[in-house]
Amino acid sequence: MTTSYETREHDVLIIGAGGAGLRAAIEALAQGASVGVVCKSLLGKAHTVMAEGGIAAAMCNVDTADGWKPHFKDTMFGGKYLNNWRMAQIHAQEAPDRVNELEQWGALFDRTEKGAILQRAFGGHTYKRLCHVGDRTGLEMIRTLQDRGVQLGFDVYMECTITRLLTDAGRVTGAFGYWRENGRLIVFKAKSIVIATGGIGKAWPVTSNSWEYTGDGMTLAYEAGAELMDMEFVQFHPTGMVWPPGVQGLLVTEAVRGEGGILRNKNGERFMEKYDPKRMELSTRDVVARSIYTEVKEGRGTEHGGAYLDISHKPAEYVKKKLPSMYHQFKELADVDITKGPMEVGPTCHYVMGGIRVEAETAQSTVPGLFAAGEAAAGLHGSNRLGGNSLSDLLVFGRRAGLAAAQHAKTVPNSNVSEAQIAEAERELLAPFSNPSTESPYAVHRDLQAVMQSLVGIFRTEEDLKKAFAELEQLKSRAAKASVEGSRLFNPGWHLARDLKSMLTVSEAVALSALARTESRGAHSRIDYPKYDPVWAKKHNIIVNEGGKMTRRESPVDEMPPDLKEFVMAE
Ligand code: FUM
Repeated sequence: MTTSYETREHDVLIIGAGGAGLRAAIEALAQGASVGVVCKSLLGKAHTVMAEGGIAAAMCNVDTADGWKPHFKDTMFGGKYLNNWRMAQIHAQEAPDRVNELEQWGALFDRTEKGAILQRAFGGHTYKRLCHVGDRTGLEMIRTLQDRGVQLGFDVYMECTITRLLTDAGRVTGAFGYWRENGRLIVFKAKSIVIATGGIGKAWPVTSNSWEYTGDGMTLAYEAGAELMDMEFVQFHPTGMVWPPGVQGLLVTEAVRGEGGILRNKNGERFMEKYDPKRMELSTRDVVARSIYTEVKEGRGTEHGGAYLDISHKPAEYVKKKLPSMYHQFKELADVDITKGPMEVGPTCHYVMGGIRVEAETAQSTVPGLFAAGEAAAGLHGSNRLGGNSLSDLLVFGRRAGLAAAQHAKTVPNSNVSEAQIAEAERELLAPFSNPSTESPYAVHRDLQAVMQSLVGIFRTEEDLKKAFAELEQLKSRAAKASVEGSRLFNPGWHLARDLKSMLTVSEAVALSALARTESRGAHSRIDYPKYDPVWAKKHNIIVNEGGKMTRRESPVDEMPPDLKEFVMAE
């Protein structure tokens, strides 16, 4: 029996209000759709702001030899050719238009001397390609999109968590959720839904992600019947803070290396000479993260278990101008003046390349009416994302998802939502209040993070992954019994009990896919299978929900057309 709930109705419901969600909302509004944007947190508080160093787009303002083809090639090489080539092509072709549009909407980029948008170097990008606003690019992007969306008139539901998608005959018809502040229930009726909830970083203890990133959108989609793809590819950004402990994992932007920052071990050796003598500090993230990890493991780490990152050879005024946030972050949090000495940094869980499987042109998932964009979607980045390609991804595919969602909404009848599904969603959401055990959601979360860090981290083995499975099984049954005290009025323990389900679902998907992929590729490094395997080069891991059981399948990688293949593979 369902207690009372309020009902809202929109043509397009967008879950998540980071860059992808906001860009989707703007496009759907432009198509005349009524749009609701739901966010778990406050509007504007999104992981998008953690892409600090820039938006990758071949504007050719600094390096005129650049163009969509070199950008496409770098993206495919970075992803070790597991990328959906069509998504990579669309992304490289459309990114410059999306940046220009952002500027027209009010984003204030750093400028070249001639007044064009300034671009900087970043790992894995052959040319200076990153359009930036100091080291606050993601923040400026969110500010601009938010202003634009509010001006165009979407409805925002802040501090509202969606816990279940409602379906009818295999298509989405709405969503069930609750207000975090007072625990009241809400049902959305919608003809199309766009998932733009970002990533899964909170399943690991050392992460640049904040509390919102628990894999909710991927879990909602998976439970509604959508396929997840390539979940084994989790990106550890090479440079997070390692000290002091309270800020461990906080991002140190790649722009530090883009502006000339040098990595050294405790012996003063510039160790990237050993691991990638050609690209050095501007190698791809998977390579730099593994290099730092290896230096530390082999006893050449810094006092707090990281590497030194030094930009102090540049003039102090330059550092403060180009990296103002980093300057303040280290001064205020670690009492380190980065214009005078090095930072201590180490890998931090930052991004997942895997996610909801979508169709390249429309961003539609395998469930009719359900779309996904940004980090929640898979495909564009293959096995490893290049820095800066996430912001352009959000703009390009956020727009496409919003467009296709609005068009889809025009073709379907008004939505009916199922009372039985709503009642079941309510029962599940409220279960922690009546569970008889004393299992604490905080204890389960802490233990989950320990398992993911030690057994499903930067380097993996069959033995560890099998152990992780056994641990995850136990954690799932503990999470199902988690109990909370108090009322529904702002109750963080209850919220976490609910989020555990998402984190456990995505963790299992990562471990299952990582165990199956018996090779090393991009961000997935198997110590027991250290090489590429040509058989796995042609396969995606697909995760599906079969009658409540997580099942893995394989699906072939789409072949690039011959002309693109020839260009991409040329030296
Ligand atoms: O290092 C950074 O500024 C992060 C950028 C990104 O993840 O794209």
